[in-house]
Amino acid sequence: QEKPLVILPNLTSCHESMGRSDLPVYCCPPMNQSNVAIIDFQFPDPSLPLRVRRPTHLLDDNYISKYKKAITIMKSLPDTDPRSYTRQANLHCLFCTGAYNQQGSNSPLNIHRSWLFFPWHRMLVYFHERILGSLIGDDTFALPFWPWDIPEGMVIPEMYMKAPFFHEARDFSHFPPSVVDLDYSCTTPSSEDYRCFESGLGPEDQVHTNLAMMYNQMVAGAKKMELFMGCPYKAGEGGSCDGPGTIELAPHNTVHKWVGSNLNPGSREDMGVFYSAARDPIFYPHHANIDRLWEVWRTLHGNKVITDPGWLDSSFFFYDEKLQLNRIKIRDVLSITKLQYAYEKVDFTWLNNRP
Ligand code: C2O
Repeated sequence: QEKPLVILPNLTSCHESMGRSDLPVYCCPPMNQSNVAIIDFQFPDPSLPLRVRRPTHLLDDNYISKYKKAITIMKSLPDTDPRSYTRQANLHCLFCTGAYNQQGSNSPLNIHRSWLFFPWHRMLVYFHERILGSLIGDDTFALPFWPWDIPEGMVIPEMYMKAPFFHEARDFSHFPPSVVDLDYSCTTPSSEDYRCFESGLGPEDQVHTNLAMMYNQMVAGAKKMELFMGCPYKAGEGGSCDGPGTIELAPHNTVHKWVGSNLNPGSREDMGVFYSAARDPIFYPHHANIDRLWEVWRTLHGNKVITDPGWLDSSFFFYDEKLQLNRIKIRDVLSITKLQYAYEKVDFTWLNNRP
């Protein structure tokens, strides 16, 4: 059998997967998707206004009530509707626990810990945002981003402490005014005495340590493409590529763990583990920030691009707001301008924090 060149999920292969080492989960869509019509992704009309993603500490009440309305509608949709909150959250479960096999091979597909990390999450957040906007009839609606990389953003954003953005399964000891530890670390999940380590730093020192870490993950330690993007996962490979980029490892993973609940040791669900992470509404502004940092990294490092066609043409499937199943390639998401969104500029204080 010839090895496929690009990564493509086999939608008919959806199966039970492991949510944690001791927990089988089934996050497949309720009905068979084999006879759903698939369209090739088209860029949005360039004459439409840009969706501008703003930082969580600068949102106004008017925006928050729109977002509230959109998420409330999304949460009220039945699971048979791919736009529903549960189905959206399950997308993360599907692609992050290996619930699909790749087309042309029986290797399970996993988008973490490799160069699929940034583009796949960009797609997820992008369609999520389009769906939210359409539920309130606003095609300029943009998700906020949680800028935990700058001092103003280093606590859980106020709005995520209230319904419908609040989420029970979180570590209460990390609620505001607790400053996020971007280097929050835990022992391996399978270890007997699983535990995570509080830094013990006062707020000012914690902010400072965070900034130094950002400098390392974005600048000093991320000069080469592979260091930032993660290892090149090729079609047909099972789990052999296991090399997360600097930002994926931390603060991405560490913020997931830091937000997740200490009452679920070993995994810190919901945010602390793949199958459940996207159930917490804070997942989306967290990922919008990751997505923004990808843009920032490109501008800091001379706009380096990956030219491997195996990466550029690898494709995934996402429902849009019209319930059409889009086949979208990585090459389609390399310009956020073409996707009609932008990030409001914030000062990267960490850029001056060479340790
Ligand atoms: Cu797919 Cu933040 O993890």
